Amino acid sequence: VKVDIELMLVKYARLVDHFILEHLSGTPESLYQAALHLVKAGGKRLRPAIAMLVANMLGGIEAESRALPLAAAIEVSHTFTLIHDDIMDRDDYRRGVPTVHKLWGESWAILAGDLLHAYAYKFIVSSVDHGLSKSEAHEAMKVLTTAGIKVSRGQAYDLLLEKTLDVTVADYLDMVYHKTGAIMEASAKLGAVAARAESEVVELLGQYGSLLGVAFQVRDDYLGMFGDPEKTGKPIYSDLRRGKKTLLAIYALSKLKGEEREFLVKLLDPNTPKSLEDLERGAMLVKESGAADEALRLSRVYADRAKEILLSLRNVVNEDAREALLVLTEYAITRDR
Ligand code: IPE
Ligand code: IPE
Ligand code: MG
Ligand code: MG
Repeated sequence: VKVDIELMLVKYARLVDHFILEHLSGTPESLYQAALHLVKAGGKRLRPAIAMLVANMLGGIEAESRALPLAAAIEVSHTFTLIHDDIMDRDDYRRGVPTVHKLWGESWAILAGDLLHAYAYKFIVSSVDHGLSKSEAHEAMKVLTTAGIKVSRGQAYDLLLEKTLDVTVADYLDMVYHKTGAIMEASAKLGAVAARAESEVVELLGQYGSLLGVAFQVRDDYLGMFGDPEKTGKPIYSDLRRGKKTLLAIYALSKLKGEEREFLVKLLDPNTPKSLEDLERGAMLVKESGAADEALRLSRVYADRAKEILLSLRNVVNEDAREALLVLTEYAITRDR
């Protein structure tokens, strides 16, 4: 079977959006509007798709429907991190629309994030009404909690690394495992929990999600410098402006010499005022140094390792779902949105 990834994501987006919109209403209206702003703006819905496909792969269509509240939980949790991330990164656009804090101000954006964070747990609790046992719901709670702690830590590392040039590839991988890998890890694990998989299988799926998440973040960094903002829906060069230690920046710093390296060092100082020409020259240096290609190679290595885990699984009940996850994994590192 040939998997049309975009079509498949739309299918899961419909299911999960329906669940989210049905369960997320209340007062004050402006709080709920702010919280739903990014949900309504779109997004790929990759994390719920991972949860539901993993459930389907390991437990068939019934497991997939049990996974729906868990998939909705992981998506609203992800949305919460995006709203707060845009405050931290001072970004004005996401999903092609102005960010929540741009439209409602920081206080309301913080609250909108808090609200979604709480609803994520509410959705997990409600999974007992969708066929999960109490102990399975409890397991799902643990998965989400672990991810939440890791994301906060990862986002803190991300901020700390802005302040220093002394950053290794290992530092980067640890930071992105926490800020991005952990939610993908949780997505895959939640699907496995919904499928009543044995704990070793849940762990294996967790490893799959972590590897996928790291590969995905490297592609995200690449798109932030060389992507088309019309497609990504996000501002270009934001990472350079903020002095983020992306893999691109780390590799470029290690490859460049002399005046070129000094230029990049200066550019990566968040306090340096930067013109568009400066940022374009920075991106050009990253490309010409070979750093961009090297980063993409590393994302390929991680995606291939993620695929190997999928291929190693025994007791798959739906081969189409395994194939879909393989395609989704490839999409994570080749996408342009
Ligand atoms: C953006 O994630 C945040 C990162 C972890 C890089 P996505 O690229 O999945 O964002 P949406 O949900 O599709 O907007
Ligand atoms: C993604 O952070 C991780 C989280 C939002 C937790 P980034 O700052 O790298 O992602 P984008 O590029 O803003 O989506
Ligand atoms: Mg950001
Ligand atoms: Mg960030």
